[in-house]
Parts: sequence; structure tokens; C-alpha cells
Amino acid sequence: MKQLVDILRDSHHLNANGYAALLSAPEGDATAYLRQQAQQVAVDSFGHGIFVRGLVEVTNVCRNDCLYCGIRRSNTHVERYTLTHDQVMQSCEAGYRLGFSTFVLQGGELPRDKAQWIEQLVADIKASWPECAITLSLGEWSYEVYKRWLEAGADRYLLRHETHNPAHYAMLHPANMSQQNRLQCLEALKELGYQVGTGIMVGSPGQTVDHLVEDIQYIERLKPHMIGLGPFVPHHDTPLAHHPTGSADLTTRLYAIFRLMFPKALIPSTTALNSIHPEGRLMGIRAGANVVMPNLSPAAVRDRYSLYDGKASTHAEAAEGINQLEQQLAPIGYHIDWGRGDAPNFCKNNSHNMNNL
Ligand code: 5AD
Repeated sequence: MKQLVDILRDSHHLNANGYAALLSAPEGDATAYLRQQAQQVAVDSFGHGIFVRGLVEVTNVCRNDCLYCGIRRSNTHVERYTLTHDQVMQSCEAGYRLGFSTFVLQGGELPRDKAQWIEQLVADIKASWPECAITLSLGEWSYEVYKRWLEAGADRYLLRHETHNPAHYAMLHPANMSQQNRLQCLEALKELGYQVGTGIMVGSPGQTVDHLVEDIQYIERLKPHMIGLGPFVPHHDTPLAHHPTGSADLTTRLYAIFRLMFPKALIPSTTALNSIHPEGRLMGIRAGANVVMPNLSPAAVRDRYSLYDGKASTHAEAAEGINQLEQQLAPIGYHIDWGRGDAPNFCKNNSHNMNNL
């Protein structure tokens, strides 16, 4: 098993059986070695700096109805909000003062006529803080809308594919959503020249090792700049409320596998991981993650952006708790890197649009 880890580290690739073996191995020396090698590769790439991204949850309104998600359209118990333009600007301002140089605007899928509103926000954020990066995480839109947002100043886009297996995708999403459309969105984002992030929920209902291997192979082909993975966590008001929470160990095992596949990718130690395990954030970093995304949203709306039960939104998970984050990192020899942390161009051979990143 350790030999597989060495092969993955040195060649950044395994065949399907190799990935399946790493995913199915019991926890033990080999999985410890996998995480340790991944952490070393991350240190070789980035030193001991952890990039921070300020997350602004702009809306919990959503036109979609994903079966796992607490803000799905048919959950009538959600108190819906959309921040005002000023509230978003103020959240970014607060983040800028704290030292953030990336703002992530994340939200449910707004009605299509709100594209213009986002475009204006992106333009105004870029005009106010031209040196900062803007990441959008707003779901599925048309090529034209993505283009307008890019031209307004957006730099990066996060859109998890959730699962590459069509039957599994259909288990997690309503019939009117198509996996093909999601993958086309990711292609469009790449082609346009965004730095692109994708990823999955680990332990989502019905997920098998074979599905995970498919996900790994898809990500291997897409070569995203960012890879976001968190455990599935049930939300009480969804059809998947009674499904068990995903495993923290399997989540960090996947961080380690992706780190060895992509030494320079931006891999966050996610809020979902930190929400299910008190040591989650550090476990992620010890498995090769190098990004943390504290919450910059106004405190009054944080509870309402509830994708799953028990979501951490205070202390080191909140932008005001940035000192706590620093205090968590210091004992393991890490510090916050306040830089933009753009993805290096490791997609050179994949698309001419990636050459100027
Ligand atoms: N558990 C964990 N992650 C979730 N997400 C949505 N609902 C849940 C849940 N119940 C994740 C999805 C989505 C991201 C914004 O949040 O992967 O892409």
C-alpha cells in the first residue's frame, strides 16, 4: 500500500484499482503515510502558509431543489434573505480591513434576472479593491452570464460536480437537473479562463468506492485549480435527513490523494469537515489542505445559510475569529498567508485560456 502512495506522489497518477485500494484500505500505517506524504508535498509547494478566503453568503434563496441541501427550494422552513448591495460591500470592506485579499460570493441559485445584480456587485468590488481576487460560487448559469461576470472582474468560480456517476447524480438531485449541464458549466468556466474549482460531498447517500474512483478520474481530466471536498452532513428538513454523516477520515484521505495528484492545487480544509470534528480543520491541513474560508457574512444572517445541520460559523470559522485561527495554526507550525494565492498555471496543456493565469 505504501508503494502505491509513493507511485502516486512521484507520478501524480494511479490506475482505477490503485485509487480503489487507497480508498478502501483500513486506517493504519499506510493511510497515515498517505496523509504525511501529502502534507509534505503541500509544504514543498506552499511552505507553512495557509491561504484564507473571506466567504460572503450573499443569499439563501435558491431555484434548485437538491435533495441534500438545507436551502433547497421546497424547504419552506427557511427564512429567506438576500443581502443588499451595501451589505455585501460592507462585508468585503470588513474583510479587507482584516487583511483578506480574496472574497468569495457564495449563495443559492438566484432567479435568472438577478445576473445583472451580481455583475454590478463584482464590478463594484473590483473597483473598490482592485488588487483582490473575486471568487463566485453561485451555481449553474449560462455561458453568457459567466462571461459577463468574468468581464466585470470575477477571477475564480467554484462549482462542485457533486458526483460524476449519472445514476448517483440522479439520486441526489431532482429530475429537472442534469449532470450533463453541470459538467458543461464547468467546461464553460474553464474555457472562459476562470480559475475553476470543483469537488464532491464525501459519504453522500448512495456513494460507493467506485463512484469516488469515477470522481477522481473526472477531476484528473478536468484539472481544476481548486478542489473542494467536505463530508455529507444531513439537514433535518431534507429528504436525506436520516442518512448518516460522511466520514472525516475518508474526507481527509481524499484531500491527501488529491494533493499527491495535484501538488499545487488549492485545497480547502472545509467548514463541513470542521463542523463534524472538533479537530477537522487541522486534520485537513495535516492531510495536505492549504486553504481556509472563514465567514465574512453579517452575523445576523449566518444561521440562515444552513446547508446542513450543525454548520460551524463562529470562532475560528468566522472572520472575526481570525486570531483564533492563527492560534490554532501556530502550534502545528503554520501561519496565515494573506496573499491572493492564485492557482499557478498547471493547466497549460489543457486549454490555451489557462496560459495567462
Ligand atoms: N452536507 C454537506 N455539504 C453540503 N452541501 C450542500 N448540502 C450539503 C450537505 N447536506 C455542499 C454542496 C455544495 C456546497 C456549496 O455545499 O457540495 O456544492
